[in-house]
Amino acid sequence: MSKKENVSTLNILKKYINCDWYYKNDVSINNYYKVNKKAYRLFHSKNGFMHMSISFDNKMNKDGELYQPNTVIEYINKSTKNILELGSGQGANLYYLANKYPGIQFTGIDLRPSIDKQLSNVELIEGDYHYLDKIKSNSQDIVYAFETLCYSTNKNKIFKEVNRVLKKDGVFIIFDGYAKVKKDSLKEEKKEIMTLVEKGMAVKEFELVDNISSYAKDNNFKEIIINDLSKNVLPNMYRFKRIVTKGMKLGFIFKIICKILPRAFVGNAISGYLMSETLEKNMFCYLEHIYKKC
Ligand SMILES: C[S@@+](CC[C@H](N)C(=O)[O-])C[C@H]1O[C@@H](n2cnc3c(N)ncnc32)[C@H](O)[C@@H]1O
Repeated sequence: MSKKENVSTLNILKKYINCDWYYKNDVSINNYYKVNKKAYRLFHSKNGFMHMSISFDNKMNKDGELYQPNTVIEYINKSTKNILELGSGQGANLYYLANKYPGIQFTGIDLRPSIDKQLSNVELIEGDYHYLDKIKSNSQDIVYAFETLCYSTNKNKIFKEVNRVLKKDGVFIIFDGYAKVKKDSLKEEKKEIMTLVEKGMAVKEFELVDNISSYAKDNNFKEIIINDLSKNVLPNMYRFKRIVTKGMKLGFIFKIICKILPRAFVGNAISGYLMSETLEKNMFCYLEHIYKKC
């Protein structure tokens, strides 16, 4: 996209939304997910997955949302007994995996945990994943976290805790989005876009991608896989943008809707509208990281 087109994208948004107000105001993670629970089902995944769909042919396909949980399956073997999900959201990953593996005990921890149907091999814990006190040391074969660690402001603590609860040779699987460069180094307009995307999703600040490997190394993890899936999430991001653009076509009505609807809902729409640009403009990336406890 040319510079001119990029400027106009932000300007189009500013025609509908008082962006200055958004820059100044935060919404809590808890409130964001409470307000957007139904929106995620309606506009994102009817199965309750809240992560990006992965595409290998530039199109959205219905199994794209299974890429992340299917990655967990690659690390399950006959001796796997316990699996923990950090930030389990609406429980779609747990439901999918626990149904396939009734002999494995699954635990999900989230600020607002839920699941469509309770299964006997799933335990939900309401809480903050920085504190895994309820999980015994050396008890888990796999820990996974999909698009949730972006909310953490203390990733070192998470790596430390995950190292404690994993068995030796246990695996930590992460899918998430990161900043490619420091926000301060961006030109004003890119900075604005990045800030709106973060605030729109109730993220304090996206972690610099280079930091993740250091947290892992400092906490005795060995890197197995780092896979840049940025291009593979673009079709999903374009879909978000198309949905919001459709809304914008309502013109004045859209403007009123944005004033009436909760800030957390409108923020979600702002992020949906701008997110693809953060990737196209090389400010943001989406990665798969897999580590083994040494
Ligand atoms: C984008 S959703 C992802 C949900 C799920 N991993 C999935 O793939 O469908 C992010 C989830 O992280 C949870 N979360 C954010 N910060 C958290 C924290 N400190 N402790 C526990 N859960 C948290 C949110 O409540 C939300 O459910």
